[in-house]
Amino acid sequence: MKARVALLGFGTVGQSVARLLIERHAETLELTHVYNRDVARKQVPWVPAGVIWTGAIEEVLSARVDIVVELIGGLDPAREYVTRALESGASVVTANKQLIARHGAELMALSRRHGGHLRFEGSVAGGIPVLRAIEDGLSADRLVRVAGVVNGTSTYILSRMEEGATFVDALADARELGFAEADPSDDLTGRDAAAKIAILCATALERTICPTHITCRSIESIEPVDLRYARELDCTIRQVAWAEAGEASEPVVAAVRPALVSRQSPLSRVAGSQNVVTVQGEFGGETAFFGKGAGGDATAVAVVSDLLAIVGTSDGTGAGPRVRPGAGTGVGPGARRAFRRAPSRVSADYSAPHYVRFTVADRPGIIARVAEAFAKQDISINAVLQHPGMPADRLPFVMTLERCSETRLDAAMTDIARFDFHVQTPVVLPIFEGAL
Ligand SMILES: NC(=O)c1ccc[n+]([C@@H]2O[C@H](COP(=O)([O-])OP(=O)(O)OC[C@H]3O[C@@H](n4cnc5c(N)ncnc54)[C@H](OP(=O)(O)O)[C@@H]3O)[C@@H](O)[C@H]2O)c1
Repeated sequence: MKARVALLGFGTVGQSVARLLIERHAETLELTHVYNRDVARKQVPWVPAGVIWTGAIEEVLSARVDIVVELIGGLDPAREYVTRALESGASVVTANKQLIARHGAELMALSRRHGGHLRFEGSVAGGIPVLRAIEDGLSADRLVRVAGVVNGTSTYILSRMEEGATFVDALADARELGFAEADPSDDLTGRDAAAKIAILCATALERTICPTHITCRSIESIEPVDLRYARELDCTIRQVAWAEAGEASEPVVAAVRPALVSRQSPLSRVAGSQNVVTVQGEFGGETAFFGKGAGGDATAVAVVSDLLAIVGTSDGTGAGPRVRPGAGTGVGPGARRAFRRAPSRVSADYSAPHYVRFTVADRPGIIARVAEAFAKQDISINAVLQHPGMPADRLPFVMTLERCSETRLDAAMTDIARFDFHVQTPVVLPIFEGAL
């Protein structure tokens, strides 16, 4: 029996999903509906004649399809459509990170209540099957940390800056090549990565956290000089998102920061739209997943693999989801562990060595005053780096600090901000030398 599949959204990913379904999986999965606003302009000749093109969501939701694939993006009306599809007993596959990060717990509960499945592999790291690998391949371990470089726009910009481009030029190139959206603010500020790390945290650490409670820092403060200093320290700079969990009563430590990452770390080994996700297990140690983090075709592979997992192709049953034994009961290959627990508090009080770049109007005694402010917070200086021949009225120098908590560092930086020698706000970056 073929599973009947309705597609909501015929954009970049939706079109790739339709192609993959039609060209490779027509024997198992039957595309029955394509829903999109102003649908007439979306119609293409390569979709089989029997498929219903519609701009009326009611037509899709009342058709009792087996699986609804949500690829319109955003929170509204995606949340309403997914909710109604799950309430009707259908399964849902989505690549919508904001929807799952914010409402994963409620939607997962709904899927369990009504006997459908909810899968969202494409919502994190595009084509890398990281959620499935964590849930299926690492389930025996106790995972304590998940980290990633999961935003292609930021990685592209920082890689270009490594080659000497300014931030503004790198962003313009990213836009021209389609790596950055018209409004890239979620990518640059870290909000996009925060949604992804919230989903990874729910899956790997089995702790539900609200993405809006994760503090983010933008990559916009990074300048080419930071990448030059990073190179001297055998590092590069990437936007890193991570979450760590200890006891259930303790908050989850999670943050998104531009950070210096050692050239030895897997986090440094991505460029362009590639993503990397690392997980740290108590028993198995560190495991890294690399691959294409975005793009219609790569994401479509994740989406269609979710469809195949639901219809049971992978375990050979071939049964449609509405009749599938075990659906929604928490057993069998369709079961998900993510988003089952009550929400956890989030803290950003992590500890790491740090890089601080000051830009000052030079005069005697600056380093002594900065050092005193750090000492007051019990923070030790590791090294001071300064390039010769820089202008005295706008002099950059860098201090690297021994491992310290971000809270103490923030307190020191608040003191330091009061000094009148700054010509620019200092740039503060954690340094990740291997595992975080
Ligand atoms: N692109 C990627 O590389 C990628 C990677 C991973 C995950 N994702 C996720 O996949 C989802 C889809 O992304 P995409 O890149 O395919 O986006 P997209 O190209 O903008 O496609 C979205 C489609 O949905 C339609 N749509 C939007 N709002 C609608 C509404 N209210 N009612 C009906 N139709 C609506 C759009 O129609 P119009 O043509 O009228 O705008 C468009 O055809 C998003 O959640 C995104 O975050 C994308």
